[in-house]
Amino acid sequence: MEIVIARDAAAVGELAADAIVAALGRRSEPVLGVATGSSPLTTYRALALRPIEWRTVAAFALDEYVGLPEEHPQSYHRVIDVEVTQRLGLDPGRVHVPNGNAGDLSGECERFERAIRDAGGVDVQILGIGSNGHIGFNEPASSFGSRTRIKTLTPRTRRDNARFFSSPEEVPVHCITQGLGTIMDARRVVLVATGDRKAAAVAAMVEGPVSARVPASILQHHRHATIVVDEAAAEQLAGAEYYRFIQEQKHRLSPADDV
Ligand code: F6R
Repeated sequence: MEIVIARDAAAVGELAADAIVAALGRRSEPVLGVATGSSPLTTYRALALRPIEWRTVAAFALDEYVGLPEEHPQSYHRVIDVEVTQRLGLDPGRVHVPNGNAGDLSGECERFERAIRDAGGVDVQILGIGSNGHIGFNEPASSFGSRTRIKTLTPRTRRDNARFFSSPEEVPVHCITQGLGTIMDARRVVLVATGDRKAAAVAAMVEGPVSARVPASILQHHRHATIVVDEAAAEQLAGAEYYRFIQEQKHRLSPADDV
């Protein structure tokens, strides 16, 4: 794993954008995997200022709540539309979010997996991390081989996400999420985390055992995962001094080395 420690959330966004643009730039019809939530917002702001042909980029969301109307301000259809599609100037016809209101939800999960495959797979997957170590909505005990499917959110995730809703009961119980196997198929992964609320999950992901208790720890097996965190989220990393040292030395290496 490549661990990058940045000063604050704005610097996290800039450094994550550098990594994403470098990876997208090599593809003719790039495919970007996009996360919702608060963590990637500075990354989207930074990306919007980068000279990329955004109309040629396809995007696939990680997840969507089940049963929340598409027009609800917290449905991931809406959030992706506002924070990603409009901000970056993507072609809405190339932006894909699972349909959490489909009559046949299992069929919708299979259709979504197929659509990712038909687009040639994800070039760069942007991720946040839950305070319980989830990525996408792959909650603890998710299968490492899982594909897009329906999941039940943990009470902790529902409490964490209650800040986006007018009451905690309004947070949906179920979601559709890309699986850990789906996420691991992305050619490059860039995970961003900020704030001390994420410090324990970040340390467990990077330095803990690979364990279903911390779904993000599977990224230790990814061939090119970049983890960009601010000082507060890096607080519990035992190897922080070494990661900073690698960062300082980096200009001597090609960016793909030392992962
Ligand atoms: C969102 C997603 C989640 C979030 C995570 C962190 O599409 O898949 O894994 O990235 O819950 O959320 P924030 O960034 O709001 O703390």
